[in-house]
Amino acid sequence: MSQPTIESILQEKRHFDPSPEFSANAHIKSLEQYQELYNRAKADPQAFWAELAEKELHWFKPWESVLDWENPPFAKWFTGGQTNISYNCLDRHLTTWRKNKAALIWEGEPGDSRTLTYAQLHREVCQFANVLKQLGIKKGDRVGIYMPMIPEAAIAMLACARIGAPHSVVFGGFSAEALRDRLIDGEAKLVVTADGGWRKDATVPLKEQVDKALSEGVPSVKDVLVVKRTGQQVHMEPGRDHWWHDLQQGVSGDCPAEPMDSEDLLFILYTSGSTGKPKGVVHTTAGYNLYTHITTKWIFDLQDTDVYWCTADVGWITGHSYIIYGPLSNGATTVMYEGAPRASNPGCFWDVIEKYGVTVFYTAPTAIRAFIKMGEHHPNKRNLSSLRLLGTVGEPINPEAWMWYHRIIGGERCPIVDTWWQTETGGIMITPLPGAIPTKPGSATLPFPGILAEVVDLDGNPAGDNEGGYLAIKHPWPGMMRTVYGDADRFRRTYWEHIAPKDGQYLYFAGDGARRDEDGYFWVMGRVDDVINVAGHRLGTMEIESALVSHPSVAEAAVVGKPDDLKGEEIVAFVTLEGNATASEELNKLLKQHVVSEIGAIARPGEIRFTEALPKTRSGKIMRRLLRSLAAGQEVAGDTSTLEDRSVLDKLREGA
Ligand code: WTA
Repeated sequence: MSQPTIESILQEKRHFDPSPEFSANAHIKSLEQYQELYNRAKADPQAFWAELAEKELHWFKPWESVLDWENPPFAKWFTGGQTNISYNCLDRHLTTWRKNKAALIWEGEPGDSRTLTYAQLHREVCQFANVLKQLGIKKGDRVGIYMPMIPEAAIAMLACARIGAPHSVVFGGFSAEALRDRLIDGEAKLVVTADGGWRKDATVPLKEQVDKALSEGVPSVKDVLVVKRTGQQVHMEPGRDHWWHDLQQGVSGDCPAEPMDSEDLLFILYTSGSTGKPKGVVHTTAGYNLYTHITTKWIFDLQDTDVYWCTADVGWITGHSYIIYGPLSNGATTVMYEGAPRASNPGCFWDVIEKYGVTVFYTAPTAIRAFIKMGEHHPNKRNLSSLRLLGTVGEPINPEAWMWYHRIIGGERCPIVDTWWQTETGGIMITPLPGAIPTKPGSATLPFPGILAEVVDLDGNPAGDNEGGYLAIKHPWPGMMRTVYGDADRFRRTYWEHIAPKDGQYLYFAGDGARRDEDGYFWVMGRVDDVINVAGHRLGTMEIESALVSHPSVAEAAVVGKPDDLKGEEIVAFVTLEGNATASEELNKLLKQHVVSEIGAIARPGEIRFTEALPKTRSGKIMRRLLRSLAAGQEVAGDTSTLEDRSVLDKLREGA
């Protein structure tokens, strides 16, 4: 099993047609139908999106203008209109037969479970929204959410959306430091958390992390709401901390959804970029609702009988768009699972599929590679015949892993949707539509209707067939991020000016390299900026470097990714020490731990290499290209003439 190299992907010639049975019942049934939609959307994007917005969403007030692109790159969609995503996800289903349909099926890691129908979920969301109001949260106030994978995470998000208080969900695996930075940047007024959560047979002390995050003072935070999950002992700060179940007592289950302007802020979600400071990606109400709704419907081909399960965490965009908002807006049954495959039950995912009869399953290539390693006897022991459609997201999938997923999990009958997208895009951008588009293992295939994707050079010139280049998007789309929270200039520079705008034409720069083959299929090759993808988690090399340098023993640090069979990439840090510090096994361990406490366990370096100096250009820029080759154990190829001191390279080689 190996990573997709350019060689292996260039040689990939297999393709798989959707089965006639699948296509017959699918929302989009044929390649011709896809092409018709694609061409229609391309010819008149505004008419295409307007028609869908009218048909698929509830509006309190119709919009006046579909798209305002007068001041690119700042787009506005459906201005003048009013809607509410919590209403679209809940209330509108209550007047249909779906009222008593399972909205959320939750399975906890220790084996406890809970099912909430649309009516029950609606009631809980309303109650929680009323609790927020009682604590003084108003439209526009930001709420931090730092939660395990429990129904209350979804309830809190939907309650925020209901009253127009933008949420900022911080992944529960992030450290207190990382949480603190995000709460400060978003000026959160309240934090929702739990005493702890279950992960791999142990509990994670979430409340303790919140206490730590707030201990140095986050002036904006006035209240902390704590859900009892694990029952572990926690400190409750009088006047600041409240138990969710206490405040919920006797609170009304009626809370009308606030009509929100289309462009009102829905949420902020932080993601790594190529600087040390995470970016607060801003998504707004109507466009995000429409885009996640329609992509969920067509790509996962949701039917009323489906039991849909996305294994992401709500702390990431995939959890926002494809566990909560997209599926619920469609009135689907969405499964939420607290656990992860672990020593005590490596087959727990297959148990969940069997137990609930999951029909649509969406996970990450890194998970698939881990399953391959654990052995096919785990899935083979379970009945997976309910599955009819599979998906992947987060990183390129190597054709071998794709084939394994197809054979062992999909029983050779389930189409696979390899979905390319990002926190910034809000929803899936390049993907097969499962009843319509033949798949090729390793390719995300073709753009979603309404998405004009291209492979270009930095001047915006299109690359030829099979020629590598930068993945870019030409026209605004409803789900696109609107800005970087508090830093519009960074938004413009990072995403819209990286490829030089020509004659007022702006291209969105995704930060990924790609090529398009002779059939127009996209093959995404991975990041071309200083972002690395470790087990499907996006991390900025600069963030990890800043964490290392904040340790008193460290003078300088350079972090690169090294190919890894399981995680896709592994973090390797080259570190120079302060004069009085000496390299040792102990310091090595200490520094790894330091990164964990600064960022979180997902950022723990796999390897730290102490070195006397880092290779730099004469202008002082670290030559990461050389470090990447060294980390991968490859001979340093290419031009090294710009290296300021060639002996540095020799020493690094000796040290390796
Ligand atoms: C990578 C996750 C190849 C890519 C939804 C992108 C992929 C980054 C795929 C975004 C895919 C995601 N094939 N690469 N199907 N899906 N990526 O913001 O590098 O956490 O830029 O969003 O993941 O990561 P993010």
